[in-house]
Amino acid sequence: MHASMPFHSNPRPRPLLIGIIVACLPGLAVAQFSLAPLPYPADALEPHIDKTTMEIHHGRHHNAYVNNLNAQIMTNPELANLSLEAIQGRISQFNTAVRNNGGGHYNHDLFWQVMAPVGQRGAPGAALAADITQTFGSLDDLKKRFDQAAITRFGSGWAWLIVTPEKKLAITSTPNQDNPLMDLPDVQRGTPILGLDVWEHAYYLKYQNKRGEYATNWWNVVNWNEVTRRYDAAMK
Ligand SMILES: [Fe+2]
Repeated sequence: MHASMPFHSNPRPRPLLIGIIVACLPGLAVAQFSLAPLPYPADALEPHIDKTTMEIHHGRHHNAYVNNLNAQIMTNPELANLSLEAIQGRISQFNTAVRNNGGGHYNHDLFWQVMAPVGQRGAPGAALAADITQTFGSLDDLKKRFDQAAITRFGSGWAWLIVTPEKKLAITSTPNQDNPLMDLPDVQRGTPILGLDVWEHAYYLKYQNKRGEYATNWWNVVNWNEVTRRYDAAMK
């Protein structure tokens, strides 16, 4: 063998290099959760929710929740074996970072899906519509009570329409990035079928401090087809 080719003089795998690669494999697994693209263009909810807010909300805020949740897999490896929904249901077993960022990822995934561009929003399906009338009196009454929950949530949080374990519709709200799937003592538990983000990052550019106006206008972009799909699934 030529003395000037030491690197190629030994074709056998080098144990040290292999060891380094293997040691890095758990780190490679941190990308367990990913940010899905918005299901419509960022300007599709104009004029009720502006394009810039949507771009920042999805591309920066939601993206940060995903990245921060993935970073938690290093110290909470069991996260890698759980679905996003399953994590919510046992959130009391995890630290605050998992609670905030796991909740943030789940909540925003739902939020993008329960809104839709004009022409794709539909109306409550027959069973959901009948349940709304029976539970709240009318769709307008539901909206009033839901908006009241959104407006009175102090600080940052979410308003929710849920199906309870007893298969009843209910309106509730949660602080921060908590949600009704979480096994926490102060949470009214149920399956979320509609959620409104009332963090200031969701509305401040267009509405400033007028959370009530944002909540009222938001009904214009609700994707009732998706809410109905979630209702039907939760009632099974
Ligand atoms: Fe948000």
